[in-house]
Amino acid sequence: MKICMIGTGYVGLVSGTCFAELGNNVICVDIDKKKINKLKEGLIPIYEPGLQELVVRNSNQGRLHFSSNIGISIKNSDIVFICVGTPTNKNSNKANLKYVFNAAKTIKNNLNKYKIIVTKSTVPVTTGDKIENILNTRKNKNKFDVVSNPEFLREGEAIRDFIYPDRIVVGFNGKKSSKILRSLYSPLVSKGASYLQTSRRAAELIKYASNGFLASKITFINEIANLCEKIDVNIEDISIGIGLDKRIGSRFLRAGPGYGGSCFPKDTKALLSTAKNFNTELSIVNSVIKSNNNRHKILTSKIKKILNNRLKNKKITFLGVTFKAGTDDMRESPSLKIIPNLIRKGSLIKYYDPTGSKNEFNGLKNTTYCSDIKNACKNADLLIIHTEWNEFKQLNFKKLIKKKSFKIYDMRNLYSPIKMKKNKINYFSVGR
Ligand code: UGA
Repeated sequence: MKICMIGTGYVGLVSGTCFAELGNNVICVDIDKKKINKLKEGLIPIYEPGLQELVVRNSNQGRLHFSSNIGISIKNSDIVFICVGTPTNKNSNKANLKYVFNAAKTIKNNLNKYKIIVTKSTVPVTTGDKIENILNTRKNKNKFDVVSNPEFLREGEAIRDFIYPDRIVVGFNGKKSSKILRSLYSPLVSKGASYLQTSRRAAELIKYASNGFLASKITFINEIANLCEKIDVNIEDISIGIGLDKRIGSRFLRAGPGYGGSCFPKDTKALLSTAKNFNTELSIVNSVIKSNNNRHKILTSKIKKILNNRLKNKKITFLGVTFKAGTDDMRESPSLKIIPNLIRKGSLIKYYDPTGSKNEFNGLKNTTYCSDIKNACKNADLLIIHTEWNEFKQLNFKKLIKKKSFKIYDMRNLYSPIKMKKNKINYFSVGR
C-alpha cells in the first residue's frame, strides 16, 4: 500500500518505518526540511534502540522515503496518517490541535482521489469529527474516510510494541476504510495481535483511557509504597501479591519516582479537559495528577531524611536523569524537579546518563555532568539511582565511591536490600 506519514516525530517515524518493514511503500513528510535532509542520510533525530538500522535498511530497499513536499506526497498515497504533535496548551489542560488541523487542511487541498485519513496522533474525542468537517469543505467530489487508529508504543520499546502489539484499535465510520486497514494490519494480526474495530470516538477515548488507567496504576502503587515504608512491608511483595490476580495484572506496578515522559502527564490532563467539556467529573484522574505532581516533594523529604537533615554541601550523584530507561527524553522527568529542589538546599549535584548531558540542567548552579559512571560516583555522599538503565544493575559501589561512608537511594528498586545489608552498605529504596 502507498502510505504517507505526516510528521516525523516519534510516532510518525517509528510507525512509518515499521509499515515499510511490513512491505508497504511509505513516505514520511515533515515541514522541517533540515530533519528530512538528515533522515535522507540515515541520521535519526530521536533515540530509539533499533530504529536507525530499520530506517537505513528500508530506505536502501526502496520502501521508505522522506520528503518535505507534503502536497505531492499526499497525492501519491492511498492512506495518510496524521502523526503530528498535540502538546498541552500553555494555560490549560487542553491538547493543542493546531498541527492536526493544519495537516487536515493540507490533505483537503491535495485530495486527488479516494483516501483514508488516519489519526495516529493522540487527539481528544470528537477530533475525528472536526477533521471530517474540514475535509467536507473541499471543492472536488473525491471521497475520503477519517479513521482513528491510536498508537500504543512505549519509548525505548517502540519497534517491538509496533511489531508485536497486544491490540490494534481502529475506529471508523466507513466500510471501505475498514477493509483496507484490516488488510494493512493483517501481518500483525496473523502473529497474534487482537484487532478491535469500533467507533471513531471510542477509539479516540480508548487511547486516553489506557494512558489514564496506566498512570493510575503507577500512582496507586507509589502511594501504597509510601505506606509500606511506614509499616515495614516490602512493596514488591504487594506488587506480586496483587498482580497475581488476573483481574489486576502484574505490569505497571513498579513503584518508583513517579511517571513522566511525553504521554502520561499530557494525556491525563487532556482527558480531564475533555471530561470538563462534557460536564463530567473524573475525580480519580484528577487525584492521580495531583499525587504524581507531589511525588517529588515526598522523594526530596526522604533524601533529606537519609542525609540526616543536612543537604548543604552534600555531594549527591544521580545515575540516570531521563524519565525512564531506553530513551534520551527528559520531558516531565522526576529529576527535573528533584535536582533543583536539592540545589536550592545547597547540595552539590553530579549526574551521569547513558544518553549524555542534558540542556535542561544548563545554567543550574552546582550541577555537573560526568561522562562516565566512575567520575560521577567518586566521593559521593549519596548516590541516587534515578533511572533503571541496565548498566546500573551490577555496580560495585564500594569500588566506585572510594569512600568509607556513603549512602545509596535506589528509586527503582534495582538492588536487594538484604544483599546490601550483608555488604554493610547504607541502602534505601522505594517502599521497602
Ligand atoms: C506510554 C504508554 O505505555 C504507551 O502505551 C503509549 O503509547 C505512550 O505512553 C504514548 O501515549 O505515546 P511511554 O510514555 O513511552 O509510553 O512510557 P512507559 O513505559 O509507559 O512509562 C511511563 C512512565 O511510567 C515512566 O516514567 C516510567 O518510569 C513509569 N512507570 C512505568 C513506573 O513508574 N512504574 C511502572 O511499573 C511502569
